[in-house]
Amino acid sequence: MATERTLTIIKPDAVAAGHIGDIIKIFEASQFMIVAARLVRLSKKEAEGFYAVHRSKGFFESLTNFMSSGSALVMVLEGENAIARLREVMGATNPANAAPGTIRKLYATSIEHNAVHGSDAPETAAYEIGYFFPGVALV
Ligand code: CMP
Repeated sequence: MATERTLTIIKPDAVAAGHIGDIIKIFEASQFMIVAARLVRLSKKEAEGFYAVHRSKGFFESLTNFMSSGSALVMVLEGENAIARLREVMGATNPANAAPGTIRKLYATSIEHNAVHGSDAPETAAYEIGYFFPGVALV
């Protein structure tokens, strides 16, 4: 297994609900190292750029409005097999389908307001890390 880096976002719903600490506790307990972190308030344009692959989807407008509606905590996590493991720890996109104990089962309230984002593949992780931490030498 290779050490990987992946991008996660604690989304505006989870930040507003006071779950930053709860979610970081799960990341740390799951053997992820935080190697970069930024609290952001995305503009609509930044949210659209981040989710550009979903531009054609019916939920794009609503998703980018939500993601630009409040503060979000963007982090780069490092660990063994980090990309796939983070997705397991987050749980299914729709919290109705998320396994017990996963972040989305615990803290998401809908398929859109689903508490966290995680990169889905090495190529997207590289794009997403560069989107928020361009030219930054990570710890
Ligand atoms: P995320 O993992 O950040 O990737 C894309 C996001 O789009 C997803 O989490 C959800 O927040 C949102 N999303 C995906 N599918 C739907 C859907 N069917 N309706 C509304 N939002 C969705």
